Amino acid sequence: MKYTVVEASNDTEFGLKAKAAFYAAIDGLSMPNVVLPTGETPRPFYQALRDDGSKPAFTYVQLDEYLGLAESDPRLFAAWLARDVLDPLDIKIRLTFNSAAEPEQEVRRMRDRLAVHGPIDIAVLGIGSNGHIGFNEPGSSFDHGVRIVDLAVETIAANKAYWPQSGTSFPAQAFTLGLADLKAARQTILLVRGEGKAEILRRALLGEITPDVPGSYLQRQKGLTIVADTAALSAMKL
Ligand code: PGA
Repeated sequence: MKYTVVEASNDTEFGLKAKAAFYAAIDGLSMPNVVLPTGETPRPFYQALRDDGSKPAFTYVQLDEYLGLAESDPRLFAAWLARDVLDPLDIKIRLTFNSAAEPEQEVRRMRDRLAVHGPIDIAVLGIGSNGHIGFNEPGSSFDHGVRIVDLAVETIAANKAYWPQSGTSFPAQAFTLGLADLKAARQTILLVRGEGKAEILRRALLGEITPDVPGSYLQRQKGLTIVADTAALSAMKL
């Protein structure tokens, strides 16, 4: 497996290095299809993009979204991404899931849109502590496309932590791009921060390639760049 590791010693450096990797990936491409992640991990990256002030041109393709939230719900990943990065960067073309739509129809609609507008050119991703990529939880086939998934218990707990005030009524199902969609990317940038991700990063990159660790599909991925802080890389160096 060949990949590039970019190490950052603090969050500011992480953001700047992730931004540099992203700009290098989109360089020379005309309106590439770009997947961007939500979560805590990319925050310094989005900060760096906002601070940069330039307005890269790309089509945003949503990685994953809760199922069954109203259009105005602030927990929507689409709303989160809009606030953090898409609105500030003026990204107008967005292929997003409609959380409130009839689920099976929405899967078909997103599959159709990807068939017309796809494939994904650049996938910027995070990894869950259980190895999930997007909402492809452990056990996900590497060959699935867009679909509805049941969220793992640990994922629901992690996501509740983003919204402590939202009580117990948190979605247990979601839409996600499948690993087959993500495998099509010409370039993949995996963002990883914190010691809590060190072991799963090691398993994903150096362990067995298995659906039990969805992120292990990355070992077969061409054009892979890992941007990680020193803590996240600690188990790779043992
Ligand atoms: P996190 O989420 O960045 O908040 O850790 C990543 C993920 O679950 O994919």
